[in-house]
Amino acid sequence: MKALILSGGKGTRMRPLTNTMPKQLVPVANKPILFYVLDQIIETGIDDIGIIVSPETEEGIKAAVGDGSAWNAKVTYIFQPEPGGLAQAVKISREFLGDSSFLMFLGDNLIEGGVKNFVDEFNTLHPDALILLKEVPDPRLFGVAELGPTGKIIGMVEKPKEPKSNLAIVGVYIYTADIHKAIDKIKPSWRGELEITDAIQEFMDMGKEVKSHILDGWWLDTGKKDDLLEANRVVLDGYLQRKIEGEVDSESQIVGRVEIMPGAKVENSLIRGPASIGHDCHIKDSFIGPFSSIGAGTVIEKSSIEHSVILGNCRVANMERLADSIIGGDTAVLQRQGRLKAVKLFVGDNATVEL
Ligand code: G1P
Repeated sequence: MKALILSGGKGTRMRPLTNTMPKQLVPVANKPILFYVLDQIIETGIDDIGIIVSPETEEGIKAAVGDGSAWNAKVTYIFQPEPGGLAQAVKISREFLGDSSFLMFLGDNLIEGGVKNFVDEFNTLHPDALILLKEVPDPRLFGVAELGPTGKIIGMVEKPKEPKSNLAIVGVYIYTADIHKAIDKIKPSWRGELEITDAIQEFMDMGKEVKSHILDGWWLDTGKKDDLLEANRVVLDGYLQRKIEGEVDSESQIVGRVEIMPGAKVENSLIRGPASIGHDCHIKDSFIGPFSSIGAGTVIEKSSIEHSVILGNCRVANMERLADSIIGGDTAVLQRQGRLKAVKLFVGDNATVEL
C-alpha cells in the first residue's frame, strides 16, 4: 500500500500564521502537524509516500520534509497548481499511485492513536474503500456519512445543510485503485471542484463496498486560533514527557512534565508543565505556565505566559500576563516601561489584537 498526503491549499482560515508558512507546518507542541501525519503513516509500515503540494506550500514543505529519509521513507512530490478538490488531487497522482491501494491523509488533520488499526482493518476485511468517521457536534461543517444497519456507508454528502447523521468524514481514507474509475465519472461541484465525497458516492453507485471505521479518540482539525490552542493543549497533556536537555540554572524551578530542548537556557524562572521549550530559547526572570509551547530561538524576559503557542525567534518582554495567545514567528511583544502607557502597535495583515 502507498500513502498520499494532501498538503496543498492556501490556509486562509489560519491567517496570519499561514501568510508565511503552509498550514501543515504550523507547530503543535513544537512539532509541525505534518510530522505527526508522517509518523503515523510510517507506524503502519507504509514507506512509499506521495505529498501533494501547491504554489503556496511547495517550498516550505520540501524544505521541511526533504526526500523523507528522516522517516526512512521515499517521498514523491506531486504539484497541484490550483485548488481543484480532493478528488482532483488523486487524479493528478495516478502515475505515482499506479495499481496500488492507498491511504489518503489530509496533511492538516491530527488524530489520536494513529492509523495502524485502520490500515490493519482494511488489510483484513478487503473492502473497496474504508473511510474514517468521527461523531461531531456540528456535522454541517464537514463531509457527512449515512450508515446502514451493518455499518456499511449508504450515503455521503459534502457539508450538508440538513445532515443525516452526526458522523463527519475525517480526512483519512483508504481506497483500492478502482477509485480512479469513479473519479473519472464525476463532474465538478457548485464550487468548481472534484469532490472526494462525490467520488465515494459514485463508487458506491458502481456497486463497490465502502466500509466505515469510527474513531474513538480525538480528532483535531486545526482550522482556527482556538482549534490550534486546543490541539496544543491536548497534545501536551496527552503525550509530553519530562526531558530536560537545555541548561537550567540553580535559581530556576522546573515543575512536572516539561520539555527543554538542547541549546535552550532557563535563568531565574519557573516553568510549570506541561510545557515545551524549543531549541536555543532563552527564558529569563519569567513564569511559563501549563499548556505553553515556545518555539526555537525565542527569548522571554520578565514575563508570565500561560496556555499559549509562541513560534520561533520571537521576543517577549515585561508582559505581566500573556494567556490564550498565538504569536507568529519573528515577532516582538513588549510591555513598555515608564509612565507612557499608550499602546503602540505594528501588526501584520490578518492579525487579531485583544487588549
Ligand atoms: C475536507 C473534506 C470533508 C472532510 C474534511 C475533514 O473538507 O472535503 O469531507 O470532512 O476535509 O477535515 P475541507 O477541509 O476541504 O473543507
